[in-house]
Amino acid sequence: MSKSHSYPAPDYLQLQGLTKVYGERNAVSDLNLSVARGELVSLLGPSGCGKTTTLHMIAGFHTPDEGDIVLDGCSLRNVPGHRRGAAMVFQNYALFPHMTVHGNVEFGLKMAGVSGAERRRRVGDAVELVRLGGLENRYPRELSGGQQQRVALARALVLKPSLLLLDEPLSNLDPSLRRALRQELVDIHRLTGMTTVLVTHDLEEAFAVSDRIAVLNQGVLDQFDTPRAIYTRPKTRFVADFLGHENVLEGRRISTEGTARVDISGTLVEAPSPRPDLVATELIRYALPARQLHIVAPSNESSIQRHAGRSRFGARVKSLAFMGSAISYSVDWQGLVLQGEQTADALFDGLEVGAAVDVSWATDHLIELPNV
Ligand SMILES: Nc1ncnc2c1ncn2[C@@H]1O[C@H](COP(=O)(O)OP(=O)(O)OP(=O)(O)O)[C@@H](O)[C@H]1O
Ligand SMILES: [Mg+2]
Repeated sequence: MSKSHSYPAPDYLQLQGLTKVYGERNAVSDLNLSVARGELVSLLGPSGCGKTTTLHMIAGFHTPDEGDIVLDGCSLRNVPGHRRGAAMVFQNYALFPHMTVHGNVEFGLKMAGVSGAERRRRVGDAVELVRLGGLENRYPRELSGGQQQRVALARALVLKPSLLLLDEPLSNLDPSLRRALRQELVDIHRLTGMTTVLVTHDLEEAFAVSDRIAVLNQGVLDQFDTPRAIYTRPKTRFVADFLGHENVLEGRRISTEGTARVDISGTLVEAPSPRPDLVATELIRYALPARQLHIVAPSNESSIQRHAGRSRFGARVKSLAFMGSAISYSVDWQGLVLQGEQTADALFDGLEVGAAVDVSWATDHLIELPNV
């Protein structure tokens, strides 16, 4: 690695004003991102937003048109890909078909001139880490998709890279295998402490594995935050939309003194105090996640009641769907259709489509959405 450009480096990996242009279009625009040593950061966004392009610039497959990448205090501008100490796992595995599991995992070490005894030890460790012990002599065609994906991961891990780059590593797997391998990724990351950049367009995956998530919108970084902060404080409308909240309540803010009140179709709803980082506006939108909505038996009292920190209103059941451990439902609340989900045992008898019910939610489960 070149030591010619030295920067003070509070963070292990820094993307500084990274830009990549294809023809007339910026695939990546002025991207600034700092990743701490040992951190697992996801690049998240829809198809075509520049995730792979960014990863390939870090790996050295593409040269940025502007900006720089700094790793451990050193610019990578003049460092070719194979000398960056990064290892990449590709979406399509890219295993050598004519080599066994052992051969695939060993290959990079051979190329690096590692001695035979050490190669055997390190291949053994890597194969154990991804739980492929016993399959060393199989060929890729004799493995399942999930096993092949583990070989690809072992092939990267065995090199003890300074950076692990993963491009949608789980996207070809079926949902249950995906969840299992996702947990293994988290465990391996905890064990090895490798600084990792993971590309995904799957929100749940990013939430489950990441220390921090960078949300890309057409090549521009919209937000870089912890999963919880992305969920509860989306910075832009794009991020909020990407979160795919089931219910969005739109209304006019009446008061912000004390408890905030919002007028939604003529009904006053208690709302959390306005966030200082959002532009003050009368018209305001709140997300209400389906799992935070609760159906309760209708009360005889007035349909509008205020409990401390909760809202409760009369509504009518529009649909009910059995989902196994949970019931998914929708209700009509003054012309708005709200989606809800709760465990079956938390629901009361006699609940059916058309029934009058009350719906309830905690005020602080409303997520204020940005308008820009
Ligand atoms: N070699 C290329 N030539 C021209 N345009 C390209 C090239 N590679 C990528 N692009 C464009 O750059 C943009 C970003 O592409 P990129 O592959 O980084 O997206 P992505 O976020 O990885 O998408 P996906 O989730 O579909 O893999 C896209 O609009 C794409 O069409
Ligand atoms: Mg891609």
